[in-house]
Amino acid sequence: MLSIIPESNKYIANIRQAIVDAFGRTEEAELVDKIRSSPNFIPQLSLIAVENQQVVGHILFSRIVIEAPQQTIPALALAPLAVIPSRQHQGIGSKLVQAGLSKCCELDRAIVIVVGEPNYYQRFGFQTASKFGLQSSLPLPERAFMALELKPNPLSNINGIVCYPDYFQEV
Ligand SMILES: CC(C)(COP(=O)(O)OP(=O)(O)OC[C@H]1O[C@@H](n2cnc3c(N)ncnc32)[C@H](O)[C@@H]1OP(=O)(O)O)[C@@H](O)C(=O)NCCC(=O)NCCS
Repeated sequence: MLSIIPESNKYIANIRQAIVDAFGRTEEAELVDKIRSSPNFIPQLSLIAVENQQVVGHILFSRIVIEAPQQTIPALALAPLAVIPSRQHQGIGSKLVQAGLSKCCELDRAIVIVVGEPNYYQRFGFQTASKFGLQSSLPLPERAFMALELKPNPLSNINGIVCYPDYFQEV
């Protein structure tokens, strides 16, 4: 049976391996290690999909900020999302996103930013970030840079810059 649970120490090495297997390279696993050792890490928002004690997927949401002319607005970056190759296209990624977003709501978070494939993330309600007047501190393709409001209109009239911490530049 598949369970979605918060990460715990005993799974750290398996999470790393699942991410490397999913992406076929180590950069995203290293990103997770860097976020985990940063103040931007929120343990309840690092979720794993576990089946028979095996980690088959992982999702992480970490703190970022949006710098707007009059204010600094807290947000979350969804990154990375990984499902091991043998279990892709079976709904596990979707379950991780849905469980993660529910947890974000429970923790009273209002804004999630993601960089990814619009066809995938639109189904969860993400919209092109430029629609909200958001820009990114990193050079990103406009269509891949998306935002989701978890409360009514936290992004109205913001026109801010989503500021990615330096470790995102290395991915
Ligand atoms: C992207 C990923 C997390 C999706 O997880 P999953 O469990 O396979 O996804 P689900 O089964 O919930 O959903 C399947 C849908 O995702 C789409 N999809 C799967 N991989 C995709 C990818 N790399 N890019 C875009 N869409 C993808 C499929 O087309 C499918 O859509 P459909 O149902 O309309 O046909 C997984 O394929 C993965 O780990 N890929 C490698 C790592 C990666 O590229 N992560 C991207 C996020 S940072």
